[in-house]
Amino acid sequence: MRPDQHEFLGMKAVFCSDAMRNVLARLHRFAQSNATVLIEGESGTGKEILARAVHHFSLRRLQPWVDVSCAALPEHLVESELFGYEKGAFSGAHTRKEGLFELANGGTLFLDEIGELDTRMQVKLLRILDCGSYYRLGGTCKVEANVRVVAATNRDLEKSVSAGEFRKDLYHRLAQLRISVPPLRERKEDILPLAGFFLGQYSAKSGFSFEAERCLEAYNWPGNVRELRNVVMSSAVISEGHVVQASDLPAAIHSAGECERPQAQYDGMASDLCNLSAYTAGAIESSERQLILKVLGETQGHQEKAARILGISARTLSRRLKSYQLSEKAS
Ligand SMILES: Nc1ncnc2c1ncn2[C@@H]1O[C@H](COP(=O)(O)OP(=O)(O)O)[C@@H](O)[C@H]1O
Ligand SMILES: [Mg+2]
Repeated sequence: MRPDQHEFLGMKAVFCSDAMRNVLARLHRFAQSNATVLIEGESGTGKEILARAVHHFSLRRLQPWVDVSCAALPEHLVESELFGYEKGAFSGAHTRKEGLFELANGGTLFLDEIGELDTRMQVKLLRILDCGSYYRLGGTCKVEANVRVVAATNRDLEKSVSAGEFRKDLYHRLAQLRISVPPLRERKEDILPLAGFFLGQYSAKSGFSFEAERCLEAYNWPGNVRELRNVVMSSAVISEGHVVQASDLPAAIHSAGECERPQAQYDGMASDLCNLSAYTAGAIESSERQLILKVLGETQGHQEKAARILGISARTLSRRLKSYQLSEKAS
């Protein structure tokens, strides 16, 4: 495996940018403790991979890893999913069921999209995190929860706290250690390595054209790595040759490359070149003039002799002299 490639619990990851290497290094340090970790970042930035990295780097790595998305569970099921229930706890509870906290015992429980948890569950979660034990639904025996919790959110939880949507105490309990994952547009060095990695995973194409690479780098990836992965998959299918072309990319990405064409830079270069050639022409003209005047001085103004020494015809010399008189009048 290349040094910028990793695998955490079966998920392959590529981290090339300094920003992501720092994130990984911090998570490596975080993983050595049992503190809760809150991973914040836009959707598709790789929060789940990083949560897996925490488990992978921790002493719990051989113990269970259990993940659940708080957004995917209907509100009325969150409680029974997390804490389990006893037989007969409610109609339909024919047998006892272990909750996710129990399944994760000794290991790590990843609570994805924690910002979606309703306020009633927020209280319950806080209680478990504080006491380390809980009751199954309908149960009377306490269940110990030896679980390390890692949570992720794409919301700005501090804002949710200020807006009264998320409990401040739970926020602080979850964010004993905090990490923020930068969006892909802020770590452009990751774009091409990730694109190459996905292309290698999904197709036999050999790469991207230079133009296609420029478009991929210019686009701002609101859907982050997830969007990049999907774009690479679809353009690899559309592309007919060995190499994915800019025209195989979705229109928005193709046109991002067009917009970013460094026209202004070329314009600047062109005007620099014009200035340079004007400057050079001026410099040549002035040294030519000096030379002619010097030779004329040496021939005491004898134009034919001077022309011979200079290797030009007498007519050319006289034209040059006329143009100098003109420019002298003009200046
Ligand atoms: N650094 C990375 N290397 C490889 N794949 C990545 C990376 N970051 C994200 N992905 C992929 O992008 C998709 C979204 O990642 P995920 O961790 O689910 O994002 P989030 O939880 O932040 O929404 C997944 O398919 C994941 O495998
Ligand atoms: Mg996610």
